[in-house]
Amino acid sequence: MLTNEAIQQKVEDLLSRMTLEEKAAQMVQVPYSVVGREESLRWAELGAGSFLHVLGDDAREVQQTALHKSRLGIPVIFGIDAIHGHGLNTEAAIFPSQLATACTWDPAIAEEMGRVTAREVATDGLHWTFSPVCCLGRDSRWGRIDETFGEDPYLSGEMTYGIVRGYQGESLDAPDSILACAKHYIGYGEAVGARDAVDTQMTYRKMKEVFIPPFQRAVDAGCATFMTAYGSIDGHSFTADPKTLKTILRDEMGFDGFLVTDWNNCGSLVQQQFVAEDMQDAAVQAAEAGNDMIMSTMEYYDAAIRAVRSGKLAEGVLDEAVRHILTMKFRMNLFEQPEKKGVPGCIGCQAHRDAAYRAGKRSITLLKNNGMLPLKSVKKVAVIGQNADDIQSQYGDWTYLTHPNATDFRPPHRPYVTVKEGFEALCAERGAQCVYHVGCAVRPLPPEVIAMIEGPALKDPVAEYIRQIAMKRNTPADDIPGAVETAKDADAIILVVGDTIDQHGEYKDRGNLDLSGQQMELYRALRALNIPLTVVLVSSKPLCMGEIAETADAVIVAFNGGQYGGQAVAEAAFGCFNPSGRLPISFPAHSGQLPVYYNSLPGWHGGRYMDLPRTPVYAFGEGIGYAPFTYANLTFDPETFIATVEVTNAGDVAGEEVVQVYMHDVVASVIRPVKQLIAFTRVSLAPGETKTVTIQLKRDDFSLVNREEKRVVEPGEFELFIGHSSKNEDLLKTTFRL
Ligand code: NOJ
Repeated sequence: MLTNEAIQQKVEDLLSRMTLEEKAAQMVQVPYSVVGREESLRWAELGAGSFLHVLGDDAREVQQTALHKSRLGIPVIFGIDAIHGHGLNTEAAIFPSQLATACTWDPAIAEEMGRVTAREVATDGLHWTFSPVCCLGRDSRWGRIDETFGEDPYLSGEMTYGIVRGYQGESLDAPDSILACAKHYIGYGEAVGARDAVDTQMTYRKMKEVFIPPFQRAVDAGCATFMTAYGSIDGHSFTADPKTLKTILRDEMGFDGFLVTDWNNCGSLVQQQFVAEDMQDAAVQAAEAGNDMIMSTMEYYDAAIRAVRSGKLAEGVLDEAVRHILTMKFRMNLFEQPEKKGVPGCIGCQAHRDAAYRAGKRSITLLKNNGMLPLKSVKKVAVIGQNADDIQSQYGDWTYLTHPNATDFRPPHRPYVTVKEGFEALCAERGAQCVYHVGCAVRPLPPEVIAMIEGPALKDPVAEYIRQIAMKRNTPADDIPGAVETAKDADAIILVVGDTIDQHGEYKDRGNLDLSGQQMELYRALRALNIPLTVVLVSSKPLCMGEIAETADAVIVAFNGGQYGGQAVAEAAFGCFNPSGRLPISFPAHSGQLPVYYNSLPGWHGGRYMDLPRTPVYAFGEGIGYAPFTYANLTFDPETFIATVEVTNAGDVAGEEVVQVYMHDVVASVIRPVKQLIAFTRVSLAPGETKTVTIQLKRDDFSLVNREEKRVVEPGEFELFIGHSSKNEDLLKTTFRL
C-alpha cells in the first residue's frame, strides 16, 4: 500500500499530463445500461472516469478499452447498486433490505452484510457500491423507506458504520474490498410530503443536528465516496450548494473521498430545478459547488470544456475534482490491479447464504403475541396471502427480480424460501399439514394495465417492454371465499399481508398506506373464523395496521427479509429461535398521521390531529420475544458518564434484549426532541437470569447544534431513560445536571 505522500505525488504527476478534455472525461460517470455498448466503449477511449450498471464481461471489455485504447490508460471504476447483497446478479446472496436489517439493531449484522456483498461485487470485477442510504425514514409515504435504516439518526449511524466497514474491509486495495458510498447527501428522505426528490424541509441547523449524524458515522468509518441528493435547501439546489458539499462535508465533517452526483443532478439544474440557463451554466455551478463525479449527465463533458475555454470555469476546479477521483484510484491500487479479483466461486456460496439467513432471522420483529406463538402441537396450519409466496416481494427493491434487464426477464433463482415454503417444511417435520391459499391480490392491476396486457404488442420498444413485464408479473385474482374454505378447519392461520414491488421505490411514493386491494377484507373474513391468527407483514415499509394490531392474536414484521426471510418467519413462529428484532421506525395509525416519529419536537397543542391519536400503532424500538424482560435500579454518574441498569429475563426461554438509552435536554437554547436515542446494547439472558448492564456514554451524547450551527453541550438539567423501547411506559428515568 502506497503512503499518502507517494499517492499525492503520483496524482499530481498524472494530473499534470492530462488535457482539459481528459480531466472533464475523468469526472464523467457513464450509465452503460442506458447508452449501450458502442457508446460506452467510445467513452472509455475518451478517458471517462467511471461506469455504472454494467456487469461481468461487458465491464471487462470497458476496462480493457480504457486501459489500452485511451491515451493515458487510466483504469475506470465500476459502480453498482448492490444495496442488500449483490442483488443485480442472479446468483448472489440476498440479504434483508436495509430497513429490515435495521430491525436487528446489530451493527455486526450490517457489517457482515457489507462484507459478503463486497466479496460478491468484487468477484464480478466491480469496485464500488452505491450504499448505504444514510437518509432517515421519517415519513413512510416516501417510496424509498425500505432503503433506509429507519427514522433515528443514532441507530442509522451505527448501522452505517458497520456496513461501511464491511464493504471496505481492512484496506481499499484488498481484492475483496469495495468502495462504499454514503447517500443521498443530504435530506432526500425529508422531502416535503415525502414526495420523492422535491424541496426539502430543512435548515442548516436542522441538517447538522438531525441529518448529518449518520453521514458523519460514514466518514468516521472511512467511507470513500458520498452521493449527493436530488433536493434543495431553502430554494437552493444541493447540487449547486458549496456550503453543503464543501464547507460542511469536507471542512467540518472531514470527508476526504470523492463526491458523485445522483442520476443527472447536473442536468436537473436546467431541466427540473430551473436554476441554470443551459448545460454550461449547470456544469459551472455543479463543478464549483464541489461535485467531483457527474453521474449520467453526458452533456457535462462538452459543457465543462466550453466553460473552461470561455473563461467561465477555472481549470483548477476540474483539477480538484480529478484529484479526488485519482487519489481514490491510487488508494485502491487500481493502476496495478485494475480489475477486482474478489474470491472466485464465492457468489451465492453457502457461507454467504448462511449470513443472509442469519440476518433474516435477526430481523424478525414480533410485535404482538397473546400466547398463540410459538405454535405448539398444531395439526393443520393455513398459510394465506400473495406475499406468503411471492419471492419478488420478499426480496424487495434493487434485486434482479425488480430490475430485470431489457432483453431477459429472469425467473427467480433458487435457493430461496418463501413464508409458505418455510411453513410447509416445518409442518412436514412435525407431521402437521400445511395448506395454502393466495386469498387476494396485494395490488390488483388497474384496468388500464389489464387492457394494455390484453391488447396488442406496442410499437414503442420501451412501452412494449413494460407491457411484457406487466404480463409476467403474477397478479392473482381475488378469492376470499376460497381462502376461508382453505383455512376453516386449521388450528392456526398465518396471514401474510404487505405491498408489492410496484408500490415502492423511486417515483413510487404512496399517499395512502392502508393495506391495498382486498387485504383487510381477507383479514376480517379469516378473523371471523375465530381460529388463532397471526398476521405477518412482508412489505417495504410500515403500513396502517391499527385494526390488525388490536384484533389479531399475533403480529410479526418481516419487511423484505431476503432469500431466507420466509424460513425465518416460519422458524420464529414455531419457536425454533426467540425473535429479538426491534422496530427502527414507527407504524402510523393512519396515513394522515404522518409524519410520526418518536423524537419529534414538543409543541403546545399536543401535536395531534383532532380525529387521530397522537401515538403510532407501534413505536420506535418496540418488539417482543418469547420471554419478557424487566428493568430495575437505573444509575448514572455524570462524572464518568457511566450508566448501569439491571435487566432480568422474566420468562422461561433464553432471549436477547436490546437495552435502549434515550436522553432529554430539559431546558435548552433550541427546542429539543422529547426523547433522543443515544446508545443501545444487546444482552443475552438465560431464563430467570439478571445482569447488570453497564453503558459508557459520552458528554457529546448530550450535545445540540445551536443557532450558530455549532455542536455544544449546554449546562443544565437532563433526563436519562433506559429500557425496552421508546415508549414512556417501557423506560426507567433518572435526572442529573451537567
Ligand atoms: C438514482 C438513485 O437515487 C440512487 O440511489 C442510485 O444509486 C442511482 N440512481 C444509480 O442507480
